[in-house]
Amino acid sequence: MELLRQKVINEGIVLGPGVLKVDSFLNHQMDPFLMREVGREFTRRFAGEGITKVLTIESSGIAPGIMTALELEVPMIFARKQKSLTLTEDIYVEKVYSFTKKETNEITVSRKFIAPGERVLIVDDFLANGEAAFGLARIVEQAGGSVAGIGIVIEKAFQPGNRLLKEAGYRVESLVRIASLDDGVVGFVEE
Ligand code: G4P
Ligand code: NA
Ligand code: NA
Repeated sequence: MELLRQKVINEGIVLGPGVLKVDSFLNHQMDPFLMREVGREFTRRFAGEGITKVLTIESSGIAPGIMTALELEVPMIFARKQKSLTLTEDIYVEKVYSFTKKETNEITVSRKFIAPGERVLIVDDFLANGEAAFGLARIVEQAGGSVAGIGIVIEKAFQPGNRLLKEAGYRVESLVRIASLDDGVVGFVEE
């Protein structure tokens, strides 16, 4: 996606080792026009998959997730990382290990929002090792739904998430794929 690629080139800051800071349009300040285009692009790519719901994870997945859900005309759910005080109903819980942060978090989704047979599109801002995406997929499958695909805004292709998710049988669509972040320079996967 060219617009996103330009945004990464112009505004992305490489924080060594292997971390890209994009807090001017995705992780802190958010660009609604770019997010609208992200939603449209995922909708084009996953047209015909019969998607009934979008599932993402707080906090940075919410913007691309809601814009995708708007275009697909379906609801969006975000998995929570902390148990909400008002979330008293039955919940699905999955453990997600972050290699970046070296910690395990529990993510939760209320059981009432995913029905058996639901076709769920998972959306997230970054794909690194794929732990978050696998956790979300396990929740969909626990609920008796199926994963229609996984839409990623920025993939770090030098980490194994994409390969592992594809080996597990999931369709992964990443809007930009980063090959390297060496010496402060963003290298893109040529495709
Ligand atoms: P994984 O799910 O693919 O295995 O990724 P990982 O554990 O490494 O990611 C942990 C957090 O760090 C996630 O955000 C993820 O989006 C983010 N992240 C990973 N690599 C990068 C990167 O190069 N740049 C930026 N900006 N973020 C990265 P999170 O903790 O869930 O936070 P948030 O969604 O509240 O922002
Ligand atoms: Na993030
Ligand atoms: Na995220």
